[in-house]
Amino acid sequence: MTEYTSIITDVSDRVATITLNRPEALNALNGALVAELIEAAVGFDADPGIGAIVITGSERAFAAGADIKEMAELGYAEMYLGGPFPSWDGFVQMRTPVIAAVAGFALGGGCELAMMCDIILAADTAKFGQPEINLGVLPGFGGSQRLPRAIGKYKAAEMVLTGRMMGAEEAERSGLVSRVVPAAELRDEAHKVAKTIASKSLPAVYAAKDALQASQEMPLSEGLRFERHAFAASFATDDQKEGMRAFQEKRAANFTHR
Ligand code: HXC
Repeated sequence: MTEYTSIITDVSDRVATITLNRPEALNALNGALVAELIEAAVGFDADPGIGAIVITGSERAFAAGADIKEMAELGYAEMYLGGPFPSWDGFVQMRTPVIAAVAGFALGGGCELAMMCDIILAADTAKFGQPEINLGVLPGFGGSQRLPRAIGKYKAAEMVLTGRMMGAEEAERSGLVSRVVPAAELRDEAHKVAKTIASKSLPAVYAAKDALQASQEMPLSEGLRFERHAFAASFATDDQKEGMRAFQEKRAANFTHR
């Protein structure tokens, strides 16, 4: 297994867990951490033995944003060329479902990383925010686009323009998180959700993720057409036959991911 310095990886039950691990900087996302995170995640995505990925941080912080100290002296051209960060394109194009398990601060790039995931589970200690405005800048990893899609323009505008943080309960109420759990149960709960996803038919899971993604990017009519084709295509898989046969035989399905 690859040796990483800013993340810890772990695999069990067809679930890969990536733990952000820069405790001295509240998991601030510097170029090295982001490169390791993307390399590890994309590697797990390519492994058919992995059915879901969990990304988590520490009790105190999921990630307190992009590393301010690393960015502070950069100029326009350097940032426009990507700054210290590799492109997130490979990360957001992954086909394996990704669960963000958030405790403590998820600020700036940390909140944006969570929003690049498919599911966000939050500990009751979670605090979400886009405080870039306090630094004289604005969100740069997609926050100005994904936050309004998640919680609506007016709530997103208040957060982005004032830098106000949102607690877990408000985040759940606003539709930013899938579910809130007690902090002590976050890791186990995230693993449980990931294991459940990983136990399903991989082609069906990939197609469902594709369709959900389409819902964020396409007009309704196109999204519904996309779904109609993807749904019909799922009847070409062995897993569809097995799933529907298992239901009728009143037993658990044994998916082969074919
Ligand atoms: C670098 C950071 C950091 C960050 C925290 N640290 N956040 N270092 N970049 N984003 C470091 C602190 O400097 C400090 O180290 C250590 O982590 C602990 O932080 P404290 O501030 O002492 O902790 P606390 O008082 O509990 O406050 C926690 C906090 C605060 C509220 C989260 O640290 C904070 O406001 N952080 C910045 C949050 C932020 O503005 N994020 C957006 C970044 S811009 P030292 O060694 O100094 O004691 C962004 C843009 C994304 O994300 C797009 C980029 C292209």
